[in-house]
Amino acid sequence: MIKKFVFGKPFNTESILNDVKETYSEDKIPFGTVKNTPNFEWEYELGEQDVIYGLGQVMKGINIRGGKYVSWCLDQPNQDENTPSLYGAHNFIIIFGKKTFAVYFDYPGEIEFDAGFTFKDKIQVKAEKKSLNLYFIESENQNENLKSIVNQFRNLTGKSYVPPKWAFGFMQSRWGYKNAADINKVIENHKKYNLPLDSVCLDIDYMEDYKDFTVDNKKFPNFADYTKKLLQKNIRLVPIIDAGVKLQEGYDVYEQGKPYFCKDKEGNNFIAGVWPGDAVFPDFLNKEAREFFGKNYKKLTNCGIEGFWNDMNEPAVFYSKKSLKNAFDKIQDYKDKPLDIQSFFEFSGLSNSSFNRKDDTELFYHKVPQSFAGDFAESTPDKNGNVLVQNRKIHNLFGYNMTRAAAESFAKENPNKRKLLFSRSSFVGAHRYGGIWTGDNHSYWSNILLSLHMMANLNMTGFMFTGSDIGGFSSDTSYDLLLRWLAFGIFTPLCRNHSADGTRNQEFYEFEKTDDFKSMLDLRYALIPYLYSEFVKAAQNNKMYFRPLSFDYEDDLRAIHTDDQILLGEGLMIAPVYVQNAVGRYVYLPEDMLMIEWNNSQIKSQKMLTKGDHFIEVPLESVVFFIKKGKIVPFAKPALNTALLDTTNLTAVGNAPKGTVYELYDDDGFTTQIDVQKSVRKIVM
Ligand code: GLC
Repeated sequence: MIKKFVFGKPFNTESILNDVKETYSEDKIPFGTVKNTPNFEWEYELGEQDVIYGLGQVMKGINIRGGKYVSWCLDQPNQDENTPSLYGAHNFIIIFGKKTFAVYFDYPGEIEFDAGFTFKDKIQVKAEKKSLNLYFIESENQNENLKSIVNQFRNLTGKSYVPPKWAFGFMQSRWGYKNAADINKVIENHKKYNLPLDSVCLDIDYMEDYKDFTVDNKKFPNFADYTKKLLQKNIRLVPIIDAGVKLQEGYDVYEQGKPYFCKDKEGNNFIAGVWPGDAVFPDFLNKEAREFFGKNYKKLTNCGIEGFWNDMNEPAVFYSKKSLKNAFDKIQDYKDKPLDIQSFFEFSGLSNSSFNRKDDTELFYHKVPQSFAGDFAESTPDKNGNVLVQNRKIHNLFGYNMTRAAAESFAKENPNKRKLLFSRSSFVGAHRYGGIWTGDNHSYWSNILLSLHMMANLNMTGFMFTGSDIGGFSSDTSYDLLLRWLAFGIFTPLCRNHSADGTRNQEFYEFEKTDDFKSMLDLRYALIPYLYSEFVKAAQNNKMYFRPLSFDYEDDLRAIHTDDQILLGEGLMIAPVYVQNAVGRYVYLPEDMLMIEWNNSQIKSQKMLTKGDHFIEVPLESVVFFIKKGKIVPFAKPALNTALLDTTNLTAVGNAPKGTVYELYDDDGFTTQIDVQKSVRKIVM
């Protein structure tokens, strides 16, 4: 059951697709109270054992209670468990315990969630403007409360994006591949060492001077031919597109885009620095601007490109003219002055002080239809009925609408064929248009577990095509970290090894025992029929691909408080090792399960374990995972590429009576006409 409450005149974020008809008056708020203040403030008393889920991309546990988070889409290269804001804003929380319900705060600006941080037993949610839609959701199924709540939320916000099947194959990436020779090296080494591969990402260096939708033809002479040749080998290139468009007279994207870039108060283009230096930012909230930007993807799809990643779309701003001037002026002030401890620290922070400043978001505006703007309008309507809205107020919608610009243009170009699209910044609603990756993590052991937590919470909000940079983006990875991370990453829909320029080479073939990586990638490909089937079914039925244990075992206290294991689809549970030098780990089984050890590219052992705690040995080169009793999981013969995967010849694995059936969803990997009722094949034990 969903109850909607309207405060003030909200901005239409378009995160809701199938809205409820009825709205309730404020005095009917079913849980907690909305304070009688000019700002928005909701507060709820938590039960001692209440669990809080949600907020998608946060650096905490699956249970996020005890932390303080700020939904403010941010380019955040320094992430740890104290980081309040990351790239996405997913304002959905579930409270599970004394009373179980969810709240969705449909609000486009900064919003703070103090989830038992200031007061242990209180959750407080605050926003500057008291103009928003609030949705309270209660279960409609007493046996599956959490699943019912998520299912209703997802019905409200619309079906999740489904990528083409090849996107479930392994993707190799690195910021630093400079030209075709670098890409060829990756492909050749994967071939040499029999490492499966479906795609290679192109990071910013493929462009001419970091100009969106250009390809430097000194680095990639005849790009279209190159792309086509790779496609014959079933390898796809996935170029990056950045939000900032280089300011350069004569550059066609800049020239065509002039009417569509975000403007400052005086009506001039807002100029800020990103990779190409001075750049301008398409006003993605505006339909015409989306169309202008979206059309440009065609330049690359015409060359045979079938997938993209959209980056820097919080938007990331290295400097605005104003913040850069301030920094230089202050540095100048310090010249020739003695620096004491305080002034020295101030001085040393100055060169970085222009980076992603919140006050810079007050310097630019979006043009939206008056009917969308509610209380957020800052001008009277122009002759087309559009008003101006300051970025600061609706900041979290920018990246979402960049993803949408691309997706809408792909759908127009070819409505029958899926394309790969994943973004860094997001907002609820963007899950209908593309996936996300979890951004610039580090080669730290703690990031494996943090990434597992995110998977659970992101799935609730509809972002299912997601994964972290395997091995870690910043810092140097090690052989064992990369292996353990991969042992988890092979289960995430987006399975990509990506690293930053200047870090240790992180491709699997750069390490001593390449076969260990191959074995894990082989397991990924063996499982693709199951992973794809579970993903598409979850997307179409508004369910979750990854779930916390509590979703299936609501009455089991141990399961509820297990936050380093996660369920995957109908039959699997994974429990990765995330501690260096560990020879294994404790695993909690909420029911009897079949333990599978995968080693040397095959199932090494299968063992039935009883409900309860077990210490499981997990050699570095093994992947250990679990199949629920009575369930079966189909395995394919590993292949070097999704195109070579034989999905007609699958082996059922599980501890289930003869005749047990798994309903496998499958299709050609591209169709947009997905029918999970029709396109299923029965796999029988
Ligand atoms: C950003 C992205 C990262 C990318 C880099 C260069 O930091 O998050 O993935 O490699 O920009 O484009």
